[in-house]
Amino acid sequence: MKQFISQISDLQSVAEGYYRLDFQWLIDTVPRAGQFLTIKIGNSTSPLLRRPFAISSFDASTSTASIIFQKRGKGTELLSVMKPGDDIDILGPLGNSFSRIVSEEDESKENHIVVAGGIGTGPMLYLADELKNNGKNPLLIIGCRTRDLVPYSVLDNSINTVICTDDGSAGFKGTVVDYMRSNPGLDSNSVIYSCGPEPMLKGCQLFADETGKSSYVSLEQMMACGVGACMGCTCETRGEKQYARVCKDGPVFAGGEIKWT
Ligand SMILES: Cc1cc2nc3c(=O)[nH]c(=O)nc-3n(C[C@H](O)[C@H](O)[C@H](O)COP(=O)(O)OP(=O)(O)OC[C@H]3O[C@@H](n4cnc5c(N)ncnc54)[C@H](O)[C@@H]3O)c2cc1C
Ligand code: FES
Repeated sequence: MKQFISQISDLQSVAEGYYRLDFQWLIDTVPRAGQFLTIKIGNSTSPLLRRPFAISSFDASTSTASIIFQKRGKGTELLSVMKPGDDIDILGPLGNSFSRIVSEEDESKENHIVVAGGIGTGPMLYLADELKNNGKNPLLIIGCRTRDLVPYSVLDNSINTVICTDDGSAGFKGTVVDYMRSNPGLDSNSVIYSCGPEPMLKGCQLFADETGKSSYVSLEQMMACGVGACMGCTCETRGEKQYARVCKDGPVFAGGEIKWT
């Protein structure tokens, strides 16, 4: 983990209220899928806290990293109007990664189902890319409320992708879990990875339990320090310790480890 001042190389709108921000990755550590960074946005005391975002892609040949973010409050509003060439203050890479948590047995399985929703889309695009580069043929399932929220421009045509919308305005009509339930081709020798709203993660875990699949989730808890010091991001777990810090012990966990509320 290092703090560095980088320059924005590109900032584009990718769906309604969603942006992709590319910037120079100025340190040697290669960020892995599932890891995140924090950004100090602006020079004033508001917003005071650094904001966490998952890494959505990394291009080693140009040392360019990206995040995909949704405009939500003051911090992301300010970020959305920045320009190429502007400085941004980065701290990262933070947290574990899918590659550190997924067991060797699961890694060697045939079918890898990568499920993304909302602000969880960025890290799952990166995971699908990482799996593809490791010789796998992942199935990426993206759930959105409606067509306007689908980030078509950042999708990789070489990755088998299914779009699900709640209102049926694009792709499959229904949730990502509805899609998986209606698709008998997804056999039990599969691993499901998910990141998105908690009901979606819970649904993916339940589906994995019911159908004997392995499951891993990446959580996006509210955070203060982002580096394991404040205990402000804990989640309940089934392990001996009962609690884990999402920023330091996660954000990636085996789905069965989490005590869902
Ligand atoms: C590990 C991690 C990875 C993340 N990755 C991404 C990402 O790739 N893309 C992305 O768009 N966002 C991501 N987030 C969420 C992102 O950090 C928040 O949306 C952002 O901090 C909001 O800042 P703001 O100043 O714009 O909004 P604020 O004014 O701080 O909050 C605006 C609204 O967003 C909600 N909010 C704030 N933080 C979170 C959070 N962590 N989870 C859910 N709701 C939140 C608040 O409750 C409030 O309703 C991630 C969060 C974590 C912890
Ligand atoms: S945000 Fe401080 S311990 Fe996780």
